Amino acid sequence: MDKLKINGGKKLTGQIHISGAKNAALPLICASLLTQERVTLTNMPALSDIRSMNLLLEQLGTKIESRDDVIDGNPCKIYSYQTPELSSLIAPYDYVRKMRASYYVLGPLLAREHYVELSLPGGCAIGARPMDIHLSSLEQMGADIEIKNGYVIARAPEGLKGAHLIFNIASVGATCNILMAATLAHGTTVIENAAREPEIGDLAEMLNAMGAKISGIGSPVLTIEGVEKLHGTVHKVISDRIEAGSYAVAAAITRGKIELLNALPSTLQTPLRILREMGVRITETPNSIVVDAEGCRLEGKDIMTDYYPGFPTDLQAQFLTLMLTAEGASMITETIFENRFMHVPELMRMGANINVHGHASAIVRSVKKLYGAQVMATDLRASFALVLAGLIAEGETIVNRVYHLDRGYEKLEEKLRGVGADIVRIKEPD
Ligand code: EPZ
Repeated sequence: MDKLKINGGKKLTGQIHISGAKNAALPLICASLLTQERVTLTNMPALSDIRSMNLLLEQLGTKIESRDDVIDGNPCKIYSYQTPELSSLIAPYDYVRKMRASYYVLGPLLAREHYVELSLPGGCAIGARPMDIHLSSLEQMGADIEIKNGYVIARAPEGLKGAHLIFNIASVGATCNILMAATLAHGTTVIENAAREPEIGDLAEMLNAMGAKISGIGSPVLTIEGVEKLHGTVHKVISDRIEAGSYAVAAAITRGKIELLNALPSTLQTPLRILREMGVRITETPNSIVVDAEGCRLEGKDIMTDYYPGFPTDLQAQFLTLMLTAEGASMITETIFENRFMHVPELMRMGANINVHGHASAIVRSVKKLYGAQVMATDLRASFALVLAGLIAEGETIVNRVYHLDRGYEKLEEKLRGVGADIVRIKEPD
């Protein structure tokens, strides 16, 4: 139960290296289950969610090797995964409970072994998050699905078969799971209204490098021609657009200037447009972004979260916090998850002026100052929003429950200290 102690008021300037994307790495790891050969992932972030996924795969029989690497002068990890045979086809409750992305083993195991038992993840702090689209799609592909004792038991004794699927929601998780399942199905699968998040493109590119036949990458219609088998590959994980967007806000909120290295502006067009409209100066190269808010008076903007390429729900909490320092009022509307304003009551304890309407929208009004306080959040992105508030608050802010941040922000304090923040981790005995 470590804490972060932040002394606010420092303008952040310098460079931050953006890590590989957690939300790309997690399905990529599971995609390695589709082949007996070795799959090597480079530019991997060192995060607790990656370690949790590795433990699950080891439990299923995967041999994992890791080594340190350096990309553009920055340390990262290389992991190799090889699963010649499965020693278990069960994803137990304890793994899924800790990390719902464990459900990415569903598609690959069912496709390869024609059987899987997966503990149902249930709801989480940000919403109910059902799996109905994953399950009904697999049924349409010929699987027999049974829910028993909290587990999904999926069987496809004859193997999965191609189907024409129309998703009622462009779900990221369902798109990844079905994409993986369809690579080894008999015949062709079409996914209409597929999610278009860049992490899905990254997964599809790697699957194609493994021998899959996926077309329509980046579009809402994915076509997957099933193949007999997939082979190993080496793949570099795409840069983390949400980490980059979070540090872009850190630059803006402290009226500083940060160059985000290894960041992909092409994956952040909507958030960067909002920052520009607010008055922040943004310079892009194909793989870096300079966010310059020195001397800027920022103007509040309304934001509504949406599926990619719309404004990402995973940056909503951070931008909401930024709006506290912008002139006027800003309306923030959350459309993806039904309970994603849990950071607001904590921000109010620091002096924020925010009025939440139901679960869907919040009016954020500019405040002269925030004051340091003890705060805690219930999810990863909300925790980052509290760090942002701490960076500009007068006095000391203690952010509790740092384990949320450790799931998705590699070397958070180190990166922030590197650009001038006064932030330290207070280690607490377990
Ligand atoms: C992914 O979650 C991300 N997680 C989330 O990031 C992200 O917030 C979300 O996509 C939206 O971009 C990972 O990539 C590991 P969805 P996912 O399926 O796949 C509903 C973070 O902070 N839905 O696109 O679970 C669902 O309830 C995390 O890094 C169904 O109704 O999101 C939600 O309202 C948090 N039925 C909406 O769709 C289904 O079968 C979008 O969910 C599936 C989803």
